[in-house]
Order: sequence, then structure tokens, then C-alpha cells
Amino acid sequence: AAPWVGFGAGKVILLGEHSVVYGHPALAGPLSYGVTARAVPSKRCHLSLPGTLSRAQRNLLTQAFQRAAALCGSPAVKVTLESELPLSMGLGSSGALAVASTRVLLKAAGQDDSPEEVARLALEMEQEFHGTPSGVDHTTSAQQKLLLYKRHPGQSTGRVRILKSPRPLKVLVALVGDRSPTKHTVAALRARQARWPDRYTRLFKQIGTLASEGAKAVEQGDLETLGDVMNVNQGLLAALGLSSPPLEEMVYRLRGLGALGAKLTGAGGDGGAVIGLFLEPEPAVAKLLELGVRCFTSQLAGPRAL
Ligand code: MEV
Repeated sequence: AAPWVGFGAGKVILLGEHSVVYGHPALAGPLSYGVTARAVPSKRCHLSLPGTLSRAQRNLLTQAFQRAAALCGSPAVKVTLESELPLSMGLGSSGALAVASTRVLLKAAGQDDSPEEVARLALEMEQEFHGTPSGVDHTTSAQQKLLLYKRHPGQSTGRVRILKSPRPLKVLVALVGDRSPTKHTVAALRARQARWPDRYTRLFKQIGTLASEGAKAVEQGDLETLGDVMNVNQGLLAALGLSSPPLEEMVYRLRGLGALGAKLTGAGGDGGAVIGLFLEPEPAVAKLLELGVRCFTSQLAGPRAL
């Protein structure tokens, strides 16, 4: 029988990470890279994992998979995963994994595999990994569209507005160093916000306004304004204590290479990923690769995206 295939895209947050946790809008888009899940008929429903993973990683993945499988009616298939995404870099690898697995399970079970249904069930897997995320990661991965996301208070679901970009939206993604897990960065910020609520709440609100302004710029094809909004967002992320020397250095490097805007993306902290918005990212990527920087380009939206 033909195997079933499910894809989950990685994601970048263009504007609004962290403040999205507090109910403000975030602008996010899918990468052309992600996780592919393949299912073939088998005696029972199980996940086949490569031997390179640690015992803890295997247990977590198996547990998350079983939770999703049960909800999809546990079709009798063996599922294998293949990832093109670097792990723990803020590019949504766990959300992509959850989306790919859920999508393939729903397909194998002959159930509704619409983006909304995939997102709803992928969240069950994400919760095994992350507790209570804002939901922007797995929603962007399941929708595979550029979108403005606003969390429903206290939940990992939210309101989604899909954005049409009249111009291609091209980013350069550069990886710098290691970083601590997202939940630690989110918890440390939560502690600062609880201690000094007024100052932090003000900054979250300002970032939310930037995300809305950025969405408008995207729809108007005004990439120069979008770039400027990204730069200002980076300044506010630094103000919130979410940046670090290696991230800042890469931000300035990308701006020096002609980025319209550059900022950290995802949780930030000691390291992770930095994105630059470019009209033509290829020369900058070639230059950075020559210098040994791990980087790639992706088109997030617009004509001929994906
Ligand atoms: C992580 O990709 C994005 C954060 O805003 C966390 C979340 O939304 O749950 C840092």
C-alpha cells in the first residue's frame, strides 16, 4: 500500500515573540524547511526513532506520539520522521514535528486533515514538549502561511489572520551558538514581569503594536517599513533582557550586509536564530557561509512562496 506523507513546516517569528505569550499579536511565517513524517501499514501504531537520540528524548517523543495517535484513532502504521531543521534553535522544530506526525496519522486514519484539525491535535503533542505555549509555533506550521496570531487568553490557541504579501518576503536565517530551552527563557521573563509589571507590560504592548504595524506594511508591500519595524522590535527584545552579545553581533552583521531589518527570532537568550529581511539574500548568505556561519534563506510569503 502507498505510504502516507505529512509535512510540518518550521517557522520564524518576524515580530512579536514573547509578547504573544501575554496576548499581543505576533507576525509569523513558515520556512520552506521542516519535518516530514511517513507512515506505512504495520501491525500496530508506533513511531520508529533513530538510535542517535538519548533515552530521555526517545521517551518524550514516544509519549507525545502515543497521545496524538490515540486522538487520531491509532491507525495501524509505523511512522518515521525526517527533519531538515536544526533542533532547539527557535525555528519551531518541535511544532513542526507535532504537525507532521499528526498530519500523517490523520491521513492514515482517513480523517479530516485540514490545517485547523491538524493544529488542534498537534497542540496535544506540543503540550508534552512545552507545557502551555502561546500556540503561534504549531499554528504557523499547520497553516503554512504568513499570519498574524493573537492568543486566546491563557490558552494555546488563538485568532489567526492570514496575510497576503504582494511582494516576495525573503529572509536570511543565521544560527548562533547554543541556547537554553524556550520554557526557561519564558519563565525568567515571567519572573521579571511579575516583579516589575508596569514597565514590562508597557514594553509588551509596544511590541504588539509593532506586530500590527508590520502586518500592515506586509500587505502594502512596504518592505522598508517592515524592516524598520523589525529593528525597533529587536531593540525592545533587548530591553526585555532577551538578547545577548552573539545575537546582537549577528544582528549588526546582517544589517551591515544590507538587511532591511534584522532581529533575533524565537525565544532568544544566550543564542539561537537571527533573521534578516533582504530583497536579495543570496549574496549575503554566500558571504556568511564562506566565513563559516550556519545560515540559509527562505521565502515566507508572496508570489512563488513554497
Ligand atoms: C517561541 O517560538 C515563541 C515564544 O513567544 C514562546 C511562545 O510563543 O510560546 C518565545
